[in-house]
Amino acid sequence: MLPQSVEKMLVDQINFEIYSAYIYLAMGAYSDSIDMPGSANWFKIQWEEELFHANKMYDYLLERDGRQIFTAIPQPQTEWKSLQEAFEGALAHEQIVTSRMNEIMATAEQERDYATRSFLQWFIDEQVEEESNVKELIRQIKMVKDSGHGLYMLDKELAARTFTPPKGV
Ligand code: FEO
Repeated sequence: MLPQSVEKMLVDQINFEIYSAYIYLAMGAYSDSIDMPGSANWFKIQWEEELFHANKMYDYLLERDGRQIFTAIPQPQTEWKSLQEAFEGALAHEQIVTSRMNEIMATAEQERDYATRSFLQWFIDEQVEEESNVKELIRQIKMVKDSGHGLYMLDKELAARTFTPPKGV
């Protein structure tokens, strides 16, 4: 059995991962609206990744005899001033996710729930990668600034992103 406090945090986090997916879908729609289909693709892949996170956590919750309670998903932001602002929003959001993961990990440790601690390690590592990827993209966007050619090339690069479920998880 999961400690009640850990179960509640996992339930909340599953809802939050679905909310994260929704935010990225909105960022993808914004990208399409400013004719950046590659960026839209990048955000849609991110949407898939977040749903993967939610599913992975859901399966774990079931394995530990927990029960998911789905709640309403808040409306995401729909407009940004620029692509850079959208990606900065993505980074800020990932930083919130990281701090939530750390909180769940700390609670699992307090409760001596070592199985959850082990399970969460994948998410903790994943957050390092997620933040780093978005930071790199912000750096690239800042470098091209308002250059139409630079943005076009960057968008082409983002179009190549595909979703591959991580192996062995
Ligand atoms: Fe599921 Fe982007 O963290």
